[in-house]
Amino acid sequence: MKLFDVYPLYKVCPIKAKDVYVYDEAGTEYLDLYGGHAVISVGHSHPHYINRLQEQLQDIAFYSNAVENPLQQQLADEIGEQSCLHEYQLFLCSSGAEANENALKLASFHTGKKRVVAFKNAFHGRTSAAVAATDNQNINAPLNQQQRVTFIPFNDAEILKNELQKGDICAVIFEPIQGVGGLDQPEDDFVIKMEQLCYQYETALIADEVQSGFSRSGTFFAFQNNNIKPHIITMAKGMGNGFPIGGILVHPDIRPKYGMLGTTFGGNHMACTASLAVLEILKKNKLQKHAKEMEVYFRSKAEKIKGAKIKGRGLMLGLEFDFEVGNLRKRLIYEKQIFTGGSSNKNVLRILPPLTVQKVHFDQLFEALKDIL
Ligand SMILES: Cc1ncc(COP(=O)(O)O)c(C=O)c1O
Repeated sequence: MKLFDVYPLYKVCPIKAKDVYVYDEAGTEYLDLYGGHAVISVGHSHPHYINRLQEQLQDIAFYSNAVENPLQQQLADEIGEQSCLHEYQLFLCSSGAEANENALKLASFHTGKKRVVAFKNAFHGRTSAAVAATDNQNINAPLNQQQRVTFIPFNDAEILKNELQKGDICAVIFEPIQGVGGLDQPEDDFVIKMEQLCYQYETALIADEVQSGFSRSGTFFAFQNNNIKPHIITMAKGMGNGFPIGGILVHPDIRPKYGMLGTTFGGNHMACTASLAVLEILKKNKLQKHAKEMEVYFRSKAEKIKGAKIKGRGLMLGLEFDFEVGNLRKRLIYEKQIFTGGSSNKNVLRILPPLTVQKVHFDQLFEALKDIL
């Protein structure tokens, strides 16, 4: 049987990984400044993560959401503790798109409204409502185009107010730091105004923290820079360090009803254990603080590269050049053995390393860039 060929592949086949490095069949070492698309948070194959998962596997790997699973409550407590959002409620699923799909659906249940406001260049995933709120017509099938979504630019509160006043918007969904779009961020004043307008017009504000959450931005969630309280917060990627898990945090104003949301796999024993292990490592190794410190170091080095604009926050970073970076990424992989990320803005090289990255690893990147550019 052939694979359904939807991914253009780099000619690299990692078979082993440790912390910020991956290794191919020949034992060649690659520096992972991409984190498998911002997924690897606490480093590849962290010993505590491995032990926790191995022990859990010996006990019970899965049972359905029809029975009690105390690991879900432990995870809710620990996320509440580390994010300081104790009052929110946790619903677990298995991916970022699924988190956004549930968030949009919940917003519609809660408000009784149907239309969504999303932002230019947004990426929210590939399922029905999530892909419709993604600003890329190439990945929207005719089926998805039935959803009612209006795309507006960041930082124009008048346009947003104009849409909300029409009275049919169930949700405004935004990425506090755009990932796939190329690391643009809404201005602080706009974020605060957006929250105020959503509360005023009884519309749910959804913060998509699928990529920026779980300490990658230097705060637990990136929106926490602005001291707002979104109605729903979505998360995935770094949450499981590679084990598929996603979730939404729901404001206490939104009340649950039996059957409103559901999933077979979401919140299973292995997924909860993976995420608990991630949170334990984040806390023990103070990786949130470390992400901020590494950003400062990255910026100090990047400032020396002529013509490159530094974008992003914490360890969700990018360099915007005045040329397309596709070839540069290839040369970094094949000549310098360094993984980096691209973006829908073709001039942006994305840097999304494990949060355990050290100064020497950035030194290695900047030496390589000096040689190539
Ligand atoms: C901000 C954001 N939201 C949602 C998604 C979709 O997540 P997943 O690929 O786990 O469905 C992504 C994936 O890149 C993302 O960056």
